[in-house]
Amino acid sequence: MVKLTGYKKIKTAVFISGNGSNLKSLIKFSKTRKSPITINLIITNNPKAKGLKLGKINKIKKKSFNFKKKNIENQVLSVLKKHEIKMICLAGFMKVLSKNFITKFRGKILNIHPSLLPKYKGLNTHQRVLSNNEKYSGCTVHFVNSKLDSGKIILQKKVKITKNETKKSLAKKVLEQEHKLYPQAILKVFSL
Ligand code: GRF
Repeated sequence: MVKLTGYKKIKTAVFISGNGSNLKSLIKFSKTRKSPITINLIITNNPKAKGLKLGKINKIKKKSFNFKKKNIENQVLSVLKKHEIKMICLAGFMKVLSKNFITKFRGKILNIHPSLLPKYKGLNTHQRVLSNNEKYSGCTVHFVNSKLDSGKIILQKKVKITKNETKKSLAKKVLEQEHKLYPQAILKVFSL
C-alpha cells in the first residue's frame, strides 16, 4: 500500500494573553488530519496567562515577552524565525502589533474578534452590543492589517441575542462559536 504522506503543514504560532480557550480549540484542530497547520509556538505578553498551561500539556514551546519594552518586537520576530513560523493566529492577544511587524507577516496573521465586524471594534464588545439593544451579535475571523480589527474578513458567525441576555451569557455563547469558527476560517484561508 502506498502511504500518501503529504505536503508540509504550516508552522504556526498562537499569541494569547488570557484563558486560551481559542488556543485549546486550535490545538485540537491542528492535530486532525485535515488541518493545514501545526502549532509550534505559543507567545504571550502575560506570563500569568492561564492558557500557557496548554503548552505544557501539549508539549508546545511557550515564550513570554514584555511588550512594553522598546524593540521587543524584533526579539519576537527572531524567535519566530528560529522556530520557522510561517503563520500567526492571534487568539485573545491584548496587544496591538506594529505596522512593521505586520508587514513582515503580511497576509499571514489572523485574529478572532467577538463581534460582527465592522461593528464593535475594540474592547468591551458585549456590553456595547447589549447597550445598543442589538438583536444579533457574533464573532469574526479576519486578516490583521495595521488598523485595529479592520483587516479583510474571512468568516463570521452570527448568534441571536435573547431576552434577559447578560454580558456573561453573551460572552459564553459567542465564545462557543469562536471555537468552531477559527478552525473553519483556517481551512478557508488555505483553500483560497
Ligand atoms: C475571545 O472572545 C476573543 O475573541 C477575544 O478575546 C477572547 C479570548 O478568549 N479577542 P480565550 O483566551 O481564547 O479564551
